[in-house]
Amino acid sequence: MMKDLIWKKAGKGESADPAIMAFLAGEDVVLDKELLLFDLQASAAHVRGLQQIDILSAEESTRLLGGLQKIQQDIVSGSRELDSKFEDGHSAIEFWLTEMLGDIGGKIHTGRSRNDQVAVALRLYMKDRLAQVQSICVQIAEVLLARAATEGDIPMAGYTHLQSAMPSSVGLWLAGHAEAFIDNAELAVLTSQWLDASPLGTASGFGVNLKLSRQAVAEDLGFSRMVVNPQYAQNSRGKIELQALSVLSACTLDLRRLAWDLSLFMTREFGFVKLPARYCTGSSIMPNKNNPDTVELLRAVHGVVQGAQAELAAVLSLPSGYQRDLQATKPPLLRAFEKGLQALRLLPDLLGGIEWQVERMLESITPEMLATDLAMDKARQGVPFREAYKTVMDESKGISRDIVAQSIANRVSPGGCGQLETGLLRARLETLKN
Ligand code: ARG
Repeated sequence: MMKDLIWKKAGKGESADPAIMAFLAGEDVVLDKELLLFDLQASAAHVRGLQQIDILSAEESTRLLGGLQKIQQDIVSGSRELDSKFEDGHSAIEFWLTEMLGDIGGKIHTGRSRNDQVAVALRLYMKDRLAQVQSICVQIAEVLLARAATEGDIPMAGYTHLQSAMPSSVGLWLAGHAEAFIDNAELAVLTSQWLDASPLGTASGFGVNLKLSRQAVAEDLGFSRMVVNPQYAQNSRGKIELQALSVLSACTLDLRRLAWDLSLFMTREFGFVKLPARYCTGSSIMPNKNNPDTVELLRAVHGVVQGAQAELAAVLSLPSGYQRDLQATKPPLLRAFEKGLQALRLLPDLLGGIEWQVERMLESITPEMLATDLAMDKARQGVPFREAYKTVMDESKGISRDIVAQSIANRVSPGGCGQLETGLLRARLETLKN
């Protein structure tokens, strides 16, 4: 049974139809659990704002803040739960406050609506999750660069079109994936700055007839500015979420490619890499199998995020102002961040656990793969590159593998195997630590 609905007017006793109420709630109460701590944080800032403009007395404000703090502690300790008794997390907060403090509880909703309440909680949520994405991307890049520093010289066949191309190195592969996650950490920072605005105090989308201290409340919550226009506070719902998801999507896209590489490298045909047993599983029927399931499921996460992006975008065909459809933007957002972050968190340890099969990697470099370096050597000595290109193929056949390491070390164009420029990447990484 649902608690009394906060919008039920005195004297009007029409009871809610359970099937309709269940449909309206959807997954909302479950999802609001994730948002509840942010909602409580914003509610406290709102109380302080109301006190500033004398809507609440100091005593009322102290009592409300105490109540909010108690609710927060109870939620964290697990002694209080948001459940389907409530219409949503926003109503639950007011219900609990009123239960605890009496009529003063009903004062908290002065000057706000659930419309700006959910919008502010979501912006706080996205800032939090983007900060997590940022820090995990930094950790991933750190592991990759640390390994590039110690094992970067190990030769690895390089491929284009999945055909043998040139001798490359473990360092080039590692630093390449590191740069991707540095880019992603930066994208998280930029996107977080872009959505760093408080919609609180825009109420139902039209403002209120109170001189709310919106900017001070925004700063209290750690926002750098306010969403100025109340209509836009609602119209930006979903649009903001899509950008937050696009950051996650960039990460999981890079993750997918990395996972693809690993699953190929782990085949018998490549044989470049082994992963610790904890990442692999056996087959229920084929006793000989050792399958890279973790890597494969990591590869699948981008599909989850893409699905969420499509689902979210599909909701956003709406006129201006709050529409209840916007509630349907929450499930894809929350689901994608949960899955995406869970996957990304596995990466630092997994990448740290890669065991290079050095012998096998060297064997996979065939003499013709040195032809390009050979042609470039001649070009450096003045032979027109196109002429060198034509002659080296035959010469390369006789080349011994012993020169592979030298050939890789000589690739000194900035960023190349012999000049990875990890210093430049590190310098950028340092600026992205949060
Ligand atoms: N669950 C709602 C949402 O996510 C909260 C806002 C409800 N507002 C309303 N006017 N019914 O959009």
